[in-house]
Amino acid sequence: MAPSEANYDETRVPAYDLPELLVDAGGTTVSTVEHWTGTRRPEIMRLFEEHVYGKNPPQALPPVEVSAAAEAGEYLDGAAERRQIKVRFSPPADHPAMDILLYLPARRTGPVPLFLGLNFYGNHTIQPDPDIVLSDRWMRSDPAHGVVDHRATEASRGTSASRWPVERLVARGYGLATVYCGDLDPDYDDGFQNGIHPLFYRPGQNRPDADEWGTIGAWAWGLSRALDYLVIDPDIDSRRIAVMGHSRLGKTSLWAGARDERFALVISNNSGCGGAALSRRRFGETVRRITTTFPHWFCANFARYADREDDLPVDQHMLIALAAPRPVYVASAEEDRWADPRGEFLAALHAGPAYRLLGMEGLDVTGMPAIEAPVGRHIGYHIRHGGHGVTAYDWDRYMDFAERHMH
Ligand code: GCU
Repeated sequence: MAPSEANYDETRVPAYDLPELLVDAGGTTVSTVEHWTGTRRPEIMRLFEEHVYGKNPPQALPPVEVSAAAEAGEYLDGAAERRQIKVRFSPPADHPAMDILLYLPARRTGPVPLFLGLNFYGNHTIQPDPDIVLSDRWMRSDPAHGVVDHRATEASRGTSASRWPVERLVARGYGLATVYCGDLDPDYDDGFQNGIHPLFYRPGQNRPDADEWGTIGAWAWGLSRALDYLVIDPDIDSRRIAVMGHSRLGKTSLWAGARDERFALVISNNSGCGGAALSRRRFGETVRRITTTFPHWFCANFARYADREDDLPVDQHMLIALAAPRPVYVASAEEDRWADPRGEFLAALHAGPAYRLLGMEGLDVTGMPAIEAPVGRHIGYHIRHGGHGVTAYDWDRYMDFAERHMH
């Protein structure tokens, strides 16, 4: 279905029943913390692994090797300190590696809280900072981002800066770390021959099994490898690291936050279908459409639910609930109908029972809030004016939310 044929009519959203968050596979109602933690949460994790994002391979790689990718320096007239770290996943040197770009507030009195997120076009796009290493990786050709023949050019520096307000972040005492998603797996369907997948193939295997990870799984894995580094950096508070992502990378931050409980706070910005939005609503992007256009993002099994959303054993409120009891924030944009803002709101709302079971508070509202009127306590939600993107408004709310929970 082309986007123009997508349903944008609320009266044509089909009636649906969401899978029960707090009833286990045996049909027993989950009413204790132990039952959630010991049984229901692991069950839900397995369902998302098998049917949506895929399992990570069981083999462990050797520990990551960390080295400096460039000399540390200062930025913003000394308000920020910039570091670039190369993380290698396995020897020899030509095996995949990722570069972490890190900004820390220069004026700090101890370890700082930090936001970690993947970026779409290379670390050098997030600020007009000439000392950021220009990525030489494959990326989608895009003149607006200075990407020619799938490679970044000097013109690409700073082209995503409006999405990464380093100055505001360090002024409020936060660090920021980012990695180019293509360092982990380039965002196109190549049958999983590039990126990190081949590092994990069993002898004779040459693509992931139907219930094994796709690109979102690999991106989420990379966020955890970045976290492995960040938690040992003494200038960063390992207990106050938030994972944040926009759109396809917001689907990824939710999955990374579910998988890795070291993330203290989880943020989904306009993540839509396969992210925060309920699949059963079939509003805007659908399972059929996303698994046709981006077959590599999910495990192969997910495509079986095209036009059969009601047969999915999960829906996305359960993904949000996997963050519990850690604070989670879902943000929508009014004109971003492709991502189904109402579906994102409802998923955040229906994650509430898991939070309440764990002694936290969810959105606890009866209807969708007004534009730019954030709601919720341990689950946060806002819908802002404008379209698909990340704005200063979004970041200001994430920092407000982090301040309530991570300070
Ligand atoms: C496409 C895709 C979405 C995705 C978005 C993005 O619009 O259909 O699922 O979230 O790209 O990542 O920007």
